[in-house]
Amino acid sequence: MSQDAYRLISPSGNEIELPLHEGTTGPGVIDIGKLYREQGVFTYDPGFVATGSCSSDITFIDGEKGVLMYRGYPVEQLAEHSNFLEVAYLLQHGDLPTADELADYENTIRYHTMLNEGMLSFFKGFRYDAHPMAMLSAVVGSMSAYYHDSTNVHDPEHRDIFAHRIVAKLPTVAAAAYKKNIGQPFMYPQNHLNYSENLLHMLFAVPAEDYEIDPIAAEALDLLFILHADHEQNCSTSVVRMAGSSAANPYSAIAAGISALWGPAHGGANEAVLQMLEEIGDASQIPKYVAKAKDRDDPFRLMGFGHRVYKNFDPRATIIREMCHKVLARLGRQDTPLFDLALELEQVALKDEFFIEKNLYPNVDFYSGIIYRALGIPTSMFTVMFALGRSVGWTAHWREMIADPKGKISRPRQLYTGPAQRDYVQVDAR
Ligand code: SDX
Repeated sequence: MSQDAYRLISPSGNEIELPLHEGTTGPGVIDIGKLYREQGVFTYDPGFVATGSCSSDITFIDGEKGVLMYRGYPVEQLAEHSNFLEVAYLLQHGDLPTADELADYENTIRYHTMLNEGMLSFFKGFRYDAHPMAMLSAVVGSMSAYYHDSTNVHDPEHRDIFAHRIVAKLPTVAAAAYKKNIGQPFMYPQNHLNYSENLLHMLFAVPAEDYEIDPIAAEALDLLFILHADHEQNCSTSVVRMAGSSAANPYSAIAAGISALWGPAHGGANEAVLQMLEEIGDASQIPKYVAKAKDRDDPFRLMGFGHRVYKNFDPRATIIREMCHKVLARLGRQDTPLFDLALELEQVALKDEFFIEKNLYPNVDFYSGIIYRALGIPTSMFTVMFALGRSVGWTAHWREMIADPKGKISRPRQLYTGPAQRDYVQVDAR
């Protein structure tokens, strides 16, 4: 018997050996590939709580120790020493770039930031108050109708062009959606600006006057994008992989990921956190809302708390909390009632037996919205900001999936609980 295998005994006494595969670090996986063929049964794991969907070289999370690594580099080190486009290169290509490689990558992204003029007409058709995530998903999906020159998913050069276009153009689409919502004219990207500076320019500049970019705001955005860049097989990344596994147009796979991220249980939580803090209002109301969160008959959940993987703390939340203090102080924002309320809520929840027992700690979404708000970004744009960061993770995972020579279309099975076979009944006999 192989030592690196699990042995399963069926109810009828059959024994099956299931190979155990070990990765670089983290839990091993039991390969169940032959289970149905030899035993006629499936495994069952709604929500994939304990199921590995693939092998990947990109990101590693240790939920118990609060570890997050991009291609082996701890996110804390990247947050301190790197910048978002360098992290984008790392996630997509596997190693930190040389100075020349980084300069070349930055130029490639810089010269792909403009949209086809025809795409701007979509924004004329949206309602003025359309949610920016709806506009982002729609316009990114429409890229599959524009860029026929780079949709051969089996051509490595086309994969590069696709990835460059997603990373470069999402900020332009995001800013256009914001300008639609506030009724201001669209601002074109400026090639002399870096990624985060360009986004600030496209969001807040107007044709009527010069716009001065606040370096603190650009620095804070760049850090938030690094922290949101990837997170292994999270919901939206899994959707991108699944949509891409049919060899569908890659732009539509990213549009599917954007839609999945929008949910309040996932990337939509940052918007929901601010709405929750505003609903709580002040610290005197915290006990009432904590009690609601603990009441199993009440659907209310403490937004920004809890995580499928992190069961001690989300390392990103720790970094963002520290950055909150710095950004608010350096922006001279004294009116930080929401941040003070968030700090108080965190302290109350972390001392509460319910949250301790269920391992519910602040996640990446708990503080990020406070910084976005301090930078003048409206709540409706918070998940869009998350999508800009995660766009590099989505494209990295799509490239890894599509390049896998053993890759196959994702097609899970099920436990059928519907009616047993029955015969058709004519309508007059029903
Ligand atoms: C992100 O996967 C990723 O990596 C995601 C992400 C990324 O970078 O891609 O990290 C980004 O999505 C962060 C999560 C943002 N969502 C929220 O903040 C929404 C609030 N959180 C919950 O909805 C919840 O914690 C989840 C969805 C994040 C995790 O849900 P799980 O792992 O499926 O856990 P669960 O729903 O089974 O909850 C376990 C228990 C339940 O109680 P019981 O049924 O066991 O009695 O904990 C309770 C839940 O009711 N619970 C909460 C809670 N989160 C879980 N109770 C109150 N408030 C909460 N926030």
